[in-house]
Amino acid sequence: MRGASPPGVAVEILTNPAEDPRRAPDLSHLEVFNLTRAREVALSRLVMAYVSTGLVFMLLPGTFLGVWNLIKISGRESLASISPAWLQAHGHAQVFGWVGSFILGIGFYSVPKLRGTARGAFAAAWACWVMWTAGVSLRWFANIYAWHWRALLPLSAALEMAAFAIFFYVVSRHRPAPSGTGRRPQGSCQASLDPWVWVVASASTGLALSLVGNLAACLGLALHGADPAFAHGFDQRYLALVAWGFLVPFVWGFSAKWMPTFLGLAPTRPRLLLAAVAANAAGVLVTLAGWGGAATWIFAAGAALAIIALRIFEPSPKEPKTRGVHSTFPFFIRAAYGWLLVAALLQVAAARWDFSGGLWGASRHALTVGFIAVMVLSVGQRILPAFAAMRLLWSTRLMFVALALVSTGCALRVSSEILAYQDYAAWAWSVLPASALLELAGLTAFAVNIFGTFLFERSHFATQPLVVGISREST
Ligand code: HEM
Repeated sequence: MRGASPPGVAVEILTNPAEDPRRAPDLSHLEVFNLTRAREVALSRLVMAYVSTGLVFMLLPGTFLGVWNLIKISGRESLASISPAWLQAHGHAQVFGWVGSFILGIGFYSVPKLRGTARGAFAAAWACWVMWTAGVSLRWFANIYAWHWRALLPLSAALEMAAFAIFFYVVSRHRPAPSGTGRRPQGSCQASLDPWVWVVASASTGLALSLVGNLAACLGLALHGADPAFAHGFDQRYLALVAWGFLVPFVWGFSAKWMPTFLGLAPTRPRLLLAAVAANAAGVLVTLAGWGGAATWIFAAGAALAIIALRIFEPSPKEPKTRGVHSTFPFFIRAAYGWLLVAALLQVAAARWDFSGGLWGASRHALTVGFIAVMVLSVGQRILPAFAAMRLLWSTRLMFVALALVSTGCALRVSSEILAYQDYAAWAWSVLPASALLELAGLTAFAVNIFGTFLFERSHFATQPLVVGISREST
């Protein structure tokens, strides 16, 4: 059966025979329908497993530990009072446990192979989930309890690498569609791909390099280290790779894919976007070479280029699509990109004036919470309910509450971290715990909303036709 579709593209849709009075009972159609539906249900279970795991990492090993660390830092009025292993346990759980699990889950969901006949792809995706979850959990445990850490650190890093290798194997066997078409013909060679594909590919390379660097550093620690924490100098360079080589380009890539539709923006400027990614890569290389100060200017230029390329702050020629989410969705996406600029500029200031870790910390927080977390909260609540067997978001009001709390907490944290750590204003130390609790409340509201969606919202698979194939029609 063919649905209405753009010229030159045929969309094949399967309807439920029981709900389509035009169809005579047709056994082969029924079988294909049931098989396809079973596969979609299995796929949505996989996504829900990755997303739920990510939320658990975000809440307890990530945010709760982050709040605990910050309350201790504020009580003693010193960043140095906290064990670096605990800070790194928090950072690893957030970056790899939360954001990493989300990316792997969404990545598997987006691979048509899992919708096809390849059974092995499902087994591989579940094996990846087991290894990734075990790897990130062991890392947290080794950092916090220091129990057999010389064995557990390399083991955890190796498990994360193995999980990523499986992900890469499954995803790389899928040939992405060339620009402007639905599906690439079998066996065709490289045609021009949409720019967002290149940006996501560069972010995946950043993730792979982050995992390789992590494995090498964990092996080094196991052989020569005194405790389960990376040395400060190495950690700072490593964080530049993780933040600007992996996290930021992933968000840019998905923004290029979705924001023209979600915000009704004019088409992305592809060359500028690729220039922004190139600037990021150059900034990471310059940081790794030891010129961190110069790199901060390059990251700031890259962030500005990406914002111009994506046209984030330009008026939208089309209506934003806010059905199913809170109407402030476009505001928070733009606010997140505002935080990206703040983070980049604070880094430039940090390279010049920081003497306490406060400017660097404020910049990192503006990036990880203001940009990354606000984007994940906004886009996640827009797309994840649909990926989870066509559900609707549990509560659009709770979505607003979550975003408002996280944004307020972030504004308080970034400003008072500079004032307190840099000794500009002693009263700012007492604001920090409140900022952390606001962020904790916001992130908890987000998790509750997603779990509420999975548990209490009805799946609409039963009433929706299934799109089983998109092919290019001969013209
Ligand atoms: C309630 C929310 C959060 C709180 C209270 C928090 C707290 C902290 C604290 C106290 C530090 C130590 C450095 C400093 O004082 O600035 C830190 C570092 C860090 N945070 Fe967070 N954080 C939160 C959310 C996040 C999120 C959402 C991410 C990532 C998506 C993240 C990633 C990191 C990273 C990578 C580091 C550096 C760790 C290292 O030194 O290796 N944090 N955070």
